[in-house]
Amino acid sequence: MDCVMKVMLLLCALQLLNCKDSGSGSAEQRCFCQVTGHIDDCVCDVESIDAFNNMQLFPKLQQLLESDYFRFYKVNLNKPCPFWADDRHCGSKYCAVKPCKPDEVPDGIKSNSYKYSEEANNALHECEKAEKLGAVDSSLSEETRQALLEWNRHDDEEDRFCVVDDEGSPDSQYVDLLLNPERYTGYKGSEAWQIWNSIYEENCFKPYSVKRPLNPTRAYREKDGKTFYRWLEGLCVEKRAFFRLVSGLHASINIHLSARYLLDDNWFEQKWGHNVTEFQQRFDAELTRGEGPKRLRNLYFLYLIELRALSKVLPFFEQPSFQLYTGQPDQDRRTKDLLVELLHVAKSFPLHFDETSLFTGNKQEAAQLKEDFKLTFRNISKIMDCVGCFKCRLWGKLQTQGLGTALKILFSERQIEALPKSKSSLPSFQLTRQEIVALFNAFGRISTSIRELANFRGLLSKVR
Ligand SMILES: *[C@@H]1O[C@H](CO)[C@@H](O)[C@H](O)[C@H]1NC(C)=O
Ligand SMILES: *[C@@H]1O[C@H](CO)[C@@H](O)[C@H](O)[C@H]1NC(C)=O
Repeated sequence: MDCVMKVMLLLCALQLLNCKDSGSGSAEQRCFCQVTGHIDDCVCDVESIDAFNNMQLFPKLQQLLESDYFRFYKVNLNKPCPFWADDRHCGSKYCAVKPCKPDEVPDGIKSNSYKYSEEANNALHECEKAEKLGAVDSSLSEETRQALLEWNRHDDEEDRFCVVDDEGSPDSQYVDLLLNPERYTGYKGSEAWQIWNSIYEENCFKPYSVKRPLNPTRAYREKDGKTFYRWLEGLCVEKRAFFRLVSGLHASINIHLSARYLLDDNWFEQKWGHNVTEFQQRFDAELTRGEGPKRLRNLYFLYLIELRALSKVLPFFEQPSFQLYTGQPDQDRRTKDLLVELLHVAKSFPLHFDETSLFTGNKQEAAQLKEDFKLTFRNISKIMDCVGCFKCRLWGKLQTQGLGTALKILFSERQIEALPKSKSSLPSFQLTRQEIVALFNAFGRISTSIRELANFRGLLSKVR
């Protein structure tokens, strides 16, 4: 299908500016050489985004996310992976016990091969460690549990853009996001690569023949990279944007893992903090063959898209009838005031997007595109069930749903504009509590990443 190719505002998005001097630059330049100046389709520059986010938006958002309404997220972490054999290793309730228990390795193999049993023992150790790091604390007081049931009854059911299809399942449980911060879990290597690969390779509207040079540990062929970006150029704006959003999400997650790295784990403390080496391995132009700085640019792109969604959704939250219901009227009112205030801040940022360039092409194309995005997004949320580590799965699901909700908003601009007028009939646009919680927490992650970049800049300027 030939889709909206009109105002190619994103064309410059693909002028993947080369870091020509990347080899010789300082450690800081090697990560940030492309992260400066204008961001692609928006007449705004990195520096003003940084200032806006770090000074104005981030502190308010943080405060909002600490409220009762926003800290509890319902999720089913026990769904089987629908796409490949589910030989989960670390972090999963079952796998941590099963594949890792040495006495489950047949005696014959153990006695035949000392090496194997040593491996099994190491695996056990790794698993215990990863299970501890990746475990999700789902403790809630009985009172909170009851309150949450109340909220649930209060929410309107509605079909959603990005299906997290299991809210009603008995396996779904609430988790307190403040008790389960996204941070380093030790979950990486081939299993994590499989997840990201299947997202990029099979769920980014990519023709199967194009290989992406994704895994930095795999032999890399210059040719693959070239074909890959040529493919990207051939896509319509929105689908290309889709790829960049996924890449931005990936970058954001990696920034968190590098910023909350387990630096020390001994008998009296667990010390979490910035690991500059880890950051460099993911974003240094030299170490990533030029990919790292592009990933950081994609993060800014993702930030702008989600920011745009927030500024568009303001009329929905401003409706007098809209409540953030937790059953504590005073707190609920304050949370809503804070939310609306935050959205006004978001709206105040001069985005200067071409309003018609993204997501709002002619009606038929837009409908088709919305459908394509929806299916792909549902699929990506299913892939999240294949993430072996509980905590990564939790944040993966939440951030996918958050981005899905942002896209739903962008695809529904007209319905949102029509909201105040459609009082008598059923409202033409709805968000569930789940979607709202995911939207703001996901944006909270991106916003935190932008802020962390300033920290890493500082740390990197001291390297070498
Ligand atoms: C969903 O994702 C899986 C795993 O990456 C892939 O094999 C499958 O083709 C995708 N399906 C759709 C409809 O995109
Ligand atoms: C930082 O990360 C690297 C891997 O990127 C690791 O080898 C190193 O041990 C980490 N540093 C600390 C202090 O944990």
